[in-house]
Amino acid sequence: MGEKIKIGVVGLGIGRNHIANYKKHAGAEVVAICDTDEAKLSRVGDEHGIKNRYKSLGEMLAAHKLDVVSIATPNKFHAPLTIEALKAGCHVLCEKPMAMSAAEGRRMVETAKKTGRRLMINFSYRFMPVSLALKEQVDAGVLGEVYFARSIWHRRWGLPKFGGWFGIKKLSGGGPLIDLGVHRLDLALWLMGYPKPAAVLGSAYDKLAAPAAKAAKVEFDCEDFAVGLVKFKEGMTLELEASWAAHRPEAEFMETWIFGSKGGLVHRNVGGRYEFEAEIFAKEGNSRLAKRIVSFDQKVPSAMEHFVDCILAGKPHMATGEEGVKVMQILDGIYKSAATGKAAIVS
Ligand SMILES: NC(=O)c1ccc[n+]([C@@H]2O[C@H](COP(=O)([O-])OP(=O)(O)OC[C@H]3O[C@@H](n4cnc5c(N)ncnc54)[C@H](O)[C@@H]3O)[C@@H](O)[C@H]2O)c1
Repeated sequence: MGEKIKIGVVGLGIGRNHIANYKKHAGAEVVAICDTDEAKLSRVGDEHGIKNRYKSLGEMLAAHKLDVVSIATPNKFHAPLTIEALKAGCHVLCEKPMAMSAAEGRRMVETAKKTGRRLMINFSYRFMPVSLALKEQVDAGVLGEVYFARSIWHRRWGLPKFGGWFGIKKLSGGGPLIDLGVHRLDLALWLMGYPKPAAVLGSAYDKLAAPAAKAAKVEFDCEDFAVGLVKFKEGMTLELEASWAAHRPEAEFMETWIFGSKGGLVHRNVGGRYEFEAEIFAKEGNSRLAKRIVSFDQKVPSAMEHFVDCILAGKPHMATGEEGVKVMQILDGIYKSAATGKAAIVS
């Protein structure tokens, strides 16, 4: 193998997971890390043996000729940091949600086009054996013509870092819809072939987290539950639900149903845990037969390994910036409709 792909990781929360996954790839090397928090910089630097540590992306870019930058900061900084890294000639793997709005997402995609660099979004729920096995089946036509999807992520009580940036709208862009819903939305759209959103009807509520935040005297101004109904230009319909708090028994409940003219599928977590299974239901002869998918034992690369593989091979990567913008258009539409009480037209 020739020279390794040089990587810098910005934001060392889930960014530690990016480092661990890049380290699995023989063709990649994490040469620098960046975080505004000095204690995290030294802890993570020591943990992974990375000596180049920076408190700003600008300093990191000035000191190293990097091929790839991973952005894993609070959502507010995704767009500006991605654009800065692209302009410095780096490919970017940006965490989900790609940005605070579709307008910001479009600017990221335009910059990637202008600079001729890649932009990938970490829609990590695609990079699972169960998801990739399903996608293979869908692409082979088992569902026929897809017309409906229902995708859900509910938590009984799971407000990330309660009192921190996740619940402060000017830093996060929103609550569980933009945090969790984004994953289930991408998964459904990907399986549906990424249709174009036309109109969105949505509602958002804050019945459980707001009183809890008041009692705990912490800042919180996001929804704790949101729901959206999306109509697509191709004629399909999708329903999306996401919550950080809801009166239901499971700690985590994730489920995505897709219906087509020949079959239906479900992708869901098992027992409220981060374990997943999927089934396809298709008509066979005169009986409606539930078929289990068997090929879940394939080894799949993480999003980080996939990104490096594609750069090295010069082939297209999954989870593009353009797909990220469609996700943001739908999220924008749900928030807009929730605020206005009217359907939002997606343009
Ligand atoms: N794909 C997934 O499954 C997944 C999982 C968790 C989080 N995320 C996403 O990753 C992002 C980070 O989430 P987290 O849970 O790691 O948050 P976090 O708060 O734990 O970590 C964010 C880090 O970024 C640092 N930071 C803040 N501003 C910065 C800046 N301008 N430059 C450099 N560093 C800066 C903070 O000091 C902190 O260490 C979010 O966008 C979140 O939605 C994705």
